[in-house]
Amino acid sequence: MLRILGLLHLLSCISSPVLSELIAPNALNLRITKNITHEIPSTIFGYMWEDINHSGDGGLYGELLQNRAFQGVIPGTQNALNAWQSYNGARLSVTSKTQGVSKALPNSLEVKIPKVATSLIGFENTGYWGIKVQEGWTYKGSLYAKSDSYNGPITVSLKSNRGTTFASQKLEGISSSWKKFEFQFKPTASAADENNVFNVVVDGSTAAGKTLHFGMFSLFPPTFKGRENGMRMDLAQLFADTSPGVWRFPGGNNLEGNSWDSRWKWNETIGPLEDRPGRVADWGYPNTDGLGLLEYLNWAEDLEAEPILGVWSGISTQNYSEFSTWPIVPEADLQPYIDDVLNEIEFIVGDANTTWGSVRASLGRTEPYALRFIEIGNEDQFQQDSYAAYRWRDFVDAIGAKFPQMEFLATSLPSLALDPPYQRIDFHQYNSPNWFIDNALFFDSYPRNNTKWFVGEYAVTSTNETNALDTLTNGRLAYPTLQGAVAEAAFMTGMERNSDVVFAASYAPSFQHIRSYQWTPDLVTYDAQRFVRSTSYYVQQMFSVNKGTHVLATEPTPSNDTAPLFWSASFNNETDVVYLKVSNTGETDLVANIFLDFASTGTVSAVSLGTPPLSPITGHFNISNTLEEPELITPTIFNMAIPFLDRFNYTFPATSVTILGIQSPPLN
Ligand code: AHR
Repeated sequence: MLRILGLLHLLSCISSPVLSELIAPNALNLRITKNITHEIPSTIFGYMWEDINHSGDGGLYGELLQNRAFQGVIPGTQNALNAWQSYNGARLSVTSKTQGVSKALPNSLEVKIPKVATSLIGFENTGYWGIKVQEGWTYKGSLYAKSDSYNGPITVSLKSNRGTTFASQKLEGISSSWKKFEFQFKPTASAADENNVFNVVVDGSTAAGKTLHFGMFSLFPPTFKGRENGMRMDLAQLFADTSPGVWRFPGGNNLEGNSWDSRWKWNETIGPLEDRPGRVADWGYPNTDGLGLLEYLNWAEDLEAEPILGVWSGISTQNYSEFSTWPIVPEADLQPYIDDVLNEIEFIVGDANTTWGSVRASLGRTEPYALRFIEIGNEDQFQQDSYAAYRWRDFVDAIGAKFPQMEFLATSLPSLALDPPYQRIDFHQYNSPNWFIDNALFFDSYPRNNTKWFVGEYAVTSTNETNALDTLTNGRLAYPTLQGAVAEAAFMTGMERNSDVVFAASYAPSFQHIRSYQWTPDLVTYDAQRFVRSTSYYVQQMFSVNKGTHVLATEPTPSNDTAPLFWSASFNNETDVVYLKVSNTGETDLVANIFLDFASTGTVSAVSLGTPPLSPITGHFNISNTLEEPELITPTIFNMAIPFLDRFNYTFPATSVTILGIQSPPLN
C-alpha cells in the first residue's frame, strides 16, 4: 500500500482499469531486480530552515502580533511603529526613555491620549498582514502595561477592519510599574477574511491627557500539538505531512549575521520571551527569536527529524554581493566564538549536571537532545581561504575533542583541501530545470570514497540558463512550476539511487509570506489565513513519504540513453512495498514495460503529479499552484490490478512525476 500520510483528503482516488497490453511496442524495457545495492539512510529527505520570507515570524511561529516587543527598531522612528496604528487619535511612539519590560526589551509603546478625548481611544496591531479569526478557537494573549497617570480599565479586542468585534476583554489594575496582563479570546464568529486587528482602548473621557506605556504583547491561536509558544497549526501540519528525515537550522545566511554581533546567538534565543532581545537578521527584518534553540529542537523531535545544527564559523555576510567586505574573525580572536559553540552543544547534549545542561534542565528539559550532525558555517565556499586555513580546523578540533560523537559537515565545496579532511559536505544548487535534468546522473559516477553529501539547498529557481537568481522579468520563478518540480524529481531519483553517497537533501527555502518576502520560489506560500502547496512541495512529499529502506538495482540503470525518463527503485522492508519513482522530463507520454524479478501480489498503486487532467493548458508545463489557484496541480492516486504478477506496462505522462508502489513478498 502506498503511504500518502495526511494527504488523502486532497487527492483524487481513481481505480483505473487493468492495463490493456502486456508488452507495449517502442517502450523502455525496465527490470526491477531483487538485488539490494545499499540501505537508504533515514535522513535522506528533509528541510533546511531559516527565518527568510517571514517563514518563522509571521509564518511557522504561531505568534499573531507583528513587532510585538519593538525588537530591532530605532525608538522614535516611524519604522519602529511597524504593524501598529492609532485608533481614534491616540498619539503613538516607540520609546526607550522609560524603562522597558526587561533588560532584553528596552523599547515600549508610548500612548498619549489627547486632552480632548471622549470616545474609546487607543491603538491596534495589524498582525502579520492580517489576523485569522476563527470561531471555536481560544486565543491566548498577554501584554505589559504601566501608567503614572491612568489607573482605569483597558479593553482588548479582536476586531475586523470594518469594526465588527469578535471577542473582547477588560483588563483592570494598571499602575505605575510594569504589570503583565493575560487574557483569552473566544470569537463568537469567524471573520470573513484576514483583515482583522488586535485592538487596545481606554475610555477617552477618563484617560484624556494621560500617558500609558505598553510592552511585550503576545497573541497565540491554538498551536500545533498544543505547545506553548508553538507553531501555526496548518503550516506545521504541512511539514509533518512530509515525514522529514532531517531538520537543518538556523540557516543559511540567517546564521551568519551582517556583523559578528548580529549573528544568530543561541543563548539569546532561550528562556522566557522577555529575555530574548531579538535581532535584525540577514534577511532585513527583525527576528523575535520566539522560535529559538529549544523550540527548534522540540520541533525536530515532533517531526521525528534528525537535527543538523549549523554553528557560526567566524564570518558574517556584510554587503552580501561583495565577498571582500565580509568580516572574518582572525584566528587569534576565534577562541571565544569556539567556546560559545562548545557551550551551545553542551546545552543541547550535556547531562543536567553540566554547566549548560543544567541551564537546559532549568528551562524544563532534563533529558539531553539527540544530536549527531554539526555543520561548520554556511556556504564557506565564498570564503574558502580562511575556512581552509583555520576556521574549519579550529572548530572541528575543539568540538571533536569535547564531543567525539559528533560528525561534521563542511560547507566549502568545491574546495577539497581541508584539514582534517571532511567526511560530510553540504552542497547547494539553485538552477534551471535543464541543470537538474543534466545532473540527474551526477552521483552515479561519484567515487565511493566515504564522502557523504548533504544537498542542503536546492531548487529550480529560474528558466534562465545563465543566471538562475535573476529577477522575475528575467526568468526567475514566482512559484515552483510543474516543469521545475519534475526536473527536481529527476535529480532526486539520482540522490535516492545514490543515497550511499547522498545521505540527506533539502529543498530551500521552504516558506514564503506572500506579503513580505526576499526569495522566490518557495515550497509553501501563505498569508495570514491561506496557504498553497507548490508542485515542488508535492514532489518532496511524494518522495519522503513513499520511502524505501533499501535501493534495488534495475536493468538498465538510468542513463543518457534512457532520458528523458529518470528513476530509482527501492524496497521497504517493513511494508514489503517496492517503489519505482519515475520522472518523465520530456514533453511526450512515454511507455515502459516493467518486469519484476519477483512475483507481486497483483496490486500496484500509483501517485502521480502532472498536467491537470482535461486542462486547456495541456502541453504547457510552466504552470504553478498559486494562492489564487492552489489546487491546479495536485497528485492523483491510481490503483491497478495487473494480470501478470511479474510484469506490466505503464505510461508515464509528459512532464510528470510518478511513484509506483508494488506490493511484494519480503525481498530480504
Ligand atoms: O536559501 C536562501 C539562501 O541561499 C540561504 O540563506 C543561503 O545559504 C543560500 O545562499
